[in-house]
Amino acid sequence: MEGYRRFLALLVSALLLGFVAVVCSLVWVFRYREGLGWDGGAAEFNWHPVLVVTGFVFIQGIAIIVYRLPWTWKCSKLLMKFIHAGLNTIAMILAIVSMVAVFEYHNARNIPNMYSLHSWIGLTAVIFYSLQLFLGFAVFLLPFAPVPLRAALMPIHVYSGLLIFVAVIASALMGITEKLLFSLPHWKRPPEESAKVQRPNGGAPEGVEAESTMTDCSNADRSDAGFNSDAARKRNFKLDEAGQRSTM
Ligand code: HEM
Repeated sequence: MEGYRRFLALLVSALLLGFVAVVCSLVWVFRYREGLGWDGGAAEFNWHPVLVVTGFVFIQGIAIIVYRLPWTWKCSKLLMKFIHAGLNTIAMILAIVSMVAVFEYHNARNIPNMYSLHSWIGLTAVIFYSLQLFLGFAVFLLPFAPVPLRAALMPIHVYSGLLIFVAVIASALMGITEKLLFSLPHWKRPPEESAKVQRPNGGAPEGVEAESTMTDCSNADRSDAGFNSDAARKRNFKLDEAGQRSTM
């Protein structure tokens, strides 16, 4: 009984967390980005995070645990197989649409495809997921495979499924981090602020110079000490360039 309660608490927390992740991705694209659209622009790219978080993370997560829910153990095995396969198919469709969105967006803007570790891990996960789905249908759902083959493939299906899910989570985290890095070059201290701090009476106050060099590298005050160094200029150029090449 104690174990069952803990299981329920963990299950509800995991579902809530997944749901919150989907809501956060929607709030993010509608409130802080350009919303959703299908025009080759940034709004089309935004389908990518929304659909992978919804389908590939949340729905796939539910599909993985349906056999472990005690109250489904009374249901027919065939019904559970349909639910498991159905949820995984929905996740797959959403993942494919999300891929189309990001590839179309890149092509429309002449941004190269597959240039990051995120994209390679992500695409690998999608390819293995399709294989897993196809084999799952062929072996466990259609009535042709002999029982010994099903029994032999079941542990492989379980472990490869979990491995793909881990790869999907890793890829999603890398994608979010990458997006953050693309956006961060614009997250700078406003020039007016820095001018006020650096020139209270014509010079930089003690201790401010070093910090400014760390945080603000592209404002109008580059003539000030600290911004003039070669290293600061190079770093500044790199940040600006990264900002311009951002896929978002
Ligand atoms: C690009 C897969 C989640 C952000 C890509 C590409 C693939 C991919 C295959 C390459 C597209 C191209 O080269 O044209 C996946 C998979 C994910 C996932 C399988 C989930 C498991 C996310 C998330 C974000 C994200 C949650 C957050 C915003 C990006 C960005 C790009 C991209 C910024 C363009 C830069 C690049 O190619 O690395 N993704 N992605 N991805 N994805 Fe994801």
